[in-house]
Amino acid sequence: MKALSVIVLAGGKGKRMRSGLAKVLHPLCGMPMGRYPLLSVKPLRPERIVILVGHDAERVREIFPEPNLVFAHQRFQLGTGHAVACAMEELKGFKGDVLVLSGDVPLITTTTLRALVKFHRREKNTLTFISTIVEEPTGYGRVLRDEEGRVCGVVEEADLKEHEKALPEINAGIYVFDSEFLRENLGRLERLNSQEEYYLTDLIQMAFEQNARVSALTHHDPAEVMGVNTRVELSEAEKLMQKRILKELMLSGVTIKDPSNTYIDYGVKVGRDTVIQPGVCLYGRTTIGRACIIEEWVKITDSHIGDGTIIKSFTVIEDSRIGRSASIGPFARLRPECRIDNSVRIGNFVEVKKSHIKEGTKANHHSYLGDATIGRGVNIGAGTITCNYDGRKKHRTIIKDGAFIGSDTQLVAPVTIGKNAYIGAGSTITRDVPDGALSLSRPEQKVIKGWVKRHLSGR
Ligand code: UD1
Ligand code: CA
Repeated sequence: MKALSVIVLAGGKGKRMRSGLAKVLHPLCGMPMGRYPLLSVKPLRPERIVILVGHDAERVREIFPEPNLVFAHQRFQLGTGHAVACAMEELKGFKGDVLVLSGDVPLITTTTLRALVKFHRREKNTLTFISTIVEEPTGYGRVLRDEEGRVCGVVEEADLKEHEKALPEINAGIYVFDSEFLRENLGRLERLNSQEEYYLTDLIQMAFEQNARVSALTHHDPAEVMGVNTRVELSEAEKLMQKRILKELMLSGVTIKDPSNTYIDYGVKVGRDTVIQPGVCLYGRTTIGRACIIEEWVKITDSHIGDGTIIKSFTVIEDSRIGRSASIGPFARLRPECRIDNSVRIGNFVEVKKSHIKEGTKANHHSYLGDATIGRGVNIGAGTITCNYDGRKKHRTIIKDGAFIGSDTQLVAPVTIGKNAYIGAGSTITRDVPDGALSLSRPEQKVIKGWVKRHLSGR
């Protein structure tokens, strides 16, 4: 079988995005758009993959960290033909088929790419590309066919003659070329068009004129091969990709109550029998265990949630690990670097930062727990605050197993509360409390009998 190499075009600026960010860096369901075509083509196990970078090259390279990729650089963005010519510098000596992908066609699937290569080989083609029929062809190159229906060229939007504008078949920007043909003809491209660019698409007419075998594989689903040139198209692509991600999760055993109001990034993992209520956002490198409940309007970023845990409404969790059978929220906020162990309960209006809370501990209401290590089976009363910051430095609070912290307590760090110790409500604790001790720091309560009557009568 012929060898296969791949070129991913990611050198353009994406002017129509009106952005300081190169187009392929714009995120789609949490992942830079330019990564999608690469991930789709990988299962084809190509011999070489060349990523063509140009505009903002350094940052674009960073989204392709995997080994075995080759980068080619395009100094000036002179068009897709020029881009492929630059990429071919890295395919010197390669003989076989070259699959060219556009970094801005992110919804393309492995199945379609496989079908394209297979079709190309079966037809013994020199050049095969994907086309599709759309209702609104504006913006795309139009496929020209002769009287016999053979593909004879592609005309770019900017170069269309009036009568060609209504042609419904468009070029999707995904091609397989015979490497010899590509090498011989890239150098013959000219910029005699309205954009003064080297068009890769001119090779289609050249192949036809040379009587080489060229054809289009017409895809039935325009959505899968849509290109993203503007932020309007970006939002359409986002919606389609989101739908795909949610469908896959549902088929794997996750209940998603309202898929049109659920936002889950590419790569987020959710275990079976977990229920996701409306308005939930799961972002980044998040993993959710089995049989969890994620209630309405929860946002979880880069975090792990263990099996059987419930995250109640309006909770925000960032860069944290939560164990099994825990209950968090409603209205809780877990800031980065929290470790919440099994069966912990964090209730409403509790903020936790950079803290480790061990098994079975409860902090059910209105607290700030920062830079703390809190043992097992601890009870944190309402209104407890770890005073972790002295204006210059952060300090740690240590609360050992079984301690009871009364309501409205301030723990002025650094401070340690011993095992099974009790802190009386309303205390400000500045010194360590030994194991098993009671500590409280509040003025003794006074009761002055008959005071009100005397006060009102003016005596
Ligand atoms: C291209 C096709 C058009 C097709 C459409 C499908 C050409 C001339 N036209 O148009 O027929 O219908 O895709 O989506 O190929 N790039 C570079 N360097 C450059 C120019 C572009 O790397 O100098 C990259 C871009 O980053 C992008 C891809 O090539 O990933 C396509 O470029 P773009 O300018 O978006 O082409 P379209 O105008 O959409
Ligand atoms: Ca494009």
